Amino acid sequence: MSSDLAATAKAMVAPGKGILAADESTGTANKRFVPLGIPQTEEMRRKYRDMLFTAPDFGKFFSGVILYDETIRQDGFAGKSFVKTLQDAGSFPGIKLDLGQVPLPLGNPEELVTEGLDGLAKRVDEYVKLGAKFAKWRATIKIDTANGLPSDASLIASAHGLARYAAICQAGGLVPIVEPEVLMDGGASQSLETSFAVHERTLRFVFDALSDLNVKFEEMILKPSMVIPGQKAPSASVDDVASSTLRVLLRWVPASVAGIAFLSGGQDDLAATAHLNKINILAKAHNAPWPLTFSYGRALQYAALHIWNGSDANVALAHKALHHRAHMNSLAALGQWSEASEKAPEMATV
Ligand code: 13P
Repeated sequence: MSSDLAATAKAMVAPGKGILAADESTGTANKRFVPLGIPQTEEMRRKYRDMLFTAPDFGKFFSGVILYDETIRQDGFAGKSFVKTLQDAGSFPGIKLDLGQVPLPLGNPEELVTEGLDGLAKRVDEYVKLGAKFAKWRATIKIDTANGLPSDASLIASAHGLARYAAICQAGGLVPIVEPEVLMDGGASQSLETSFAVHERTLRFVFDALSDLNVKFEEMILKPSMVIPGQKAPSASVDDVASSTLRVLLRWVPASVAGIAFLSGGQDDLAATAHLNKINILAKAHNAPWPLTFSYGRALQYAALHIWNGSDANVALAHKALHHRAHMNSLAALGQWSEASEKAPEMATV
């Protein structure tokens, strides 16, 4: 017996498909424009999102797109709303529901907790009417072993917020993407082993809270970080990242979860693709119970944003760049990517 939400969740992680995270808040979108000299206006953000959502083969690679509040209400440049643009492309519109983060009180101010639960059921109702089919809520976990981070307090608060959000979404008719992100920006002490241990604690708290609040696992998507050393720690091989990531997920994520869609978290484009590919190769060998795919923001958008650079004249080339990364990550979600695929001739349809 499968509910509508379970069917939507399953379609979001259909073979070879992933999710485009394009839900940067106005502040974050502007921050990405600044180094390129792109004006930080609503019109330019609209043009940028229009460029992304009109790329060729969009629905072939992207089962859904996470939108920000500004974008889900906007029209594109072809005389229809962005919601309709995505629906026509065969992609589900989704919505970022968290309202950002503030320091967790009574602790280390470096640890943040996510806001947005008050009035959330009403916001869910409104977004469902606007056409959203799924949602996202991001909690961040900071590693700083010398200072005892992450604390149990921050893991409890973040897990509780994710579970409350997920339950409200399911009651209101949206598939929740549950995103506990272990940040990569810790100091030199953030080794692969430390990252693994923190992912273990995080997933244990998150799934305890989700089950305490009766969240249905088959109606949700988990959006985790990969088990990666911090940017200042010695790097790890693709094989070690992939095997550590799969091991922690097999240990802590129930088999009934509809799917797993990773964030890229600041990895460069090729690393994010190579890791996903290897994770899928190992997952197949271990008979992992869930599909594993991408829900990248930066690792999908970076090349296209830099080529577009705010100019209508660059849209066709930017489309080519987005199509390429989407195609590469689609292959990786099937465990069929190789470095040679990056160079293979394609784009016949572009
Ligand atoms: P990145 O892939 O850039 O980490 O973004 C994904 C996301 O949705 C972060 O909340």
